[in-house]
Amino acid sequence: MKLTILGGGGFRVPLVYGALLTDRAEGRVTEVVLHDLDDSRLYAVAKVLEEQAARVPDAPKVTATTDLDEALRGADFVFSAIRVGGLEGRAHDERVALAEGVLGQETVGAGGIAYGLRTVPVAVDIARRVARLAPDAWVINFTNPAGLVTEAMSRHLGDRVIGICDSPVGLGRRIARVLGADPKEAWIDYVGLNHLGWVRGLRVAGRDELPRLLADPDLLGSFEEGKLFGVDWLRSLGAIPNEYLHYYYFNREAVRAYQQAVKTRGAFLADQQARFYEEMKRPDAAALTTWDRTRAEREATYMAENRETAGAGERDADDLSGGYEKVALALMRAIARDERTTLILNVRNQGTLSVLDTDAVIEVPCLVDANGAHPVAVAPLPEHATGLVCAVKGVEREVLAAAESGSRATAVKAFALHPLVDSVNVARRLVEGYTDVHPGLAYLK
Ligand code: G6P
Ligand code: MN
Repeated sequence: MKLTILGGGGFRVPLVYGALLTDRAEGRVTEVVLHDLDDSRLYAVAKVLEEQAARVPDAPKVTATTDLDEALRGADFVFSAIRVGGLEGRAHDERVALAEGVLGQETVGAGGIAYGLRTVPVAVDIARRVARLAPDAWVINFTNPAGLVTEAMSRHLGDRVIGICDSPVGLGRRIARVLGADPKEAWIDYVGLNHLGWVRGLRVAGRDELPRLLADPDLLGSFEEGKLFGVDWLRSLGAIPNEYLHYYYFNREAVRAYQQAVKTRGAFLADQQARFYEEMKRPDAAALTTWDRTRAEREATYMAENRETAGAGERDADDLSGGYEKVALALMRAIARDERTTLILNVRNQGTLSVLDTDAVIEVPCLVDANGAHPVAVAPLPEHATGLVCAVKGVEREVLAAAESGSRATAVKAFALHPLVDSVNVARRLVEGYTDVHPGLAYLK
């Protein structure tokens, strides 16, 4: 089984490879092809993988290339985890928005739109190549903004592209944990868009345990989302939102905290990662140790400003271990070996949420088997959530239209219609600001 990783020089690749190393079963991945535009990043990551593989018998063989078509040919699975414009691009996404007083974040609000506008054309090119060179491959999309990018790719690959995110998994795991339930035994009633979903129930042996959590302020305040959103707000909602909804429900505080931060998240990571890749150039670098230290620092500081505004304190040790690689591996195993499982994934709606059309990519529990991921029917969202989901899907559709037509006016429309952008004039200035700093947006005319 051959797995191609696009963005193969990316910092989180060792997480995926580490997960592959734990898989000893028949039908596992035996060959990993790393693709990246940047040779030195490939070299750095390959060094970490080599240390990971030492002492593991039959570790998947790793090769690296900067030739995309070569990487794709013969792939059974393609993981796409690219970052168009790099972390400097992410820092620009943040700064331009914050200067206009609106949220600049990788996936939410103006920053997410800018990132989407840059990424969609590249993702579409990849999808077309996969369709041509590896038509039977399954594409697992990690590339943010994951829902939007998955939808862009699905127009060329249909249901052969599946988007993943670890946020809903982490949320489900935390809720199960505080309720004393085994996350593997729990059915998590979650739906929405990527980074815009809500847990409305958690059933163990057919019984919904969420009401017990909502009724107990101590329990409710004891985990990440309880601390972030506050017990009262969660009880008002009667649901537990994805952590990214903090940017909506506490937008003013989040924007202010991001404006006041010494460095935005993107700028912090750009510096941190530059140091890591620089260090990897040294012949005597302790690759795995340095990578792991860098990873730990990244995880500990995740959403630090949001947690600070909420007085949430440090992250729980249990929340630091990530999980994105586990979702990826579970998805591949289910497809490759027809091991039926349920995972929360980004797939085409197909009637799951009646307010959206069939091709809209949503984030929803899916039954996965050799035929792919099939969304499971869920209860409708309450009106307030439906409103947000429809508004943001509307924005995503404008981003897709702008990427396809190259229309600047459509790009302005995308920004202007976002619930977190409060004036058409702001949207116009955002497009000015973003096209000034991003060469990847030169196609907007
Ligand atoms: C969460 C999100 C991902 C995001 C990751 C890293 O897991 O679901 O989409 O890529 O955090 O965020 P960071 O700010 O460290 O890049
Ligand atoms: Mn995510």
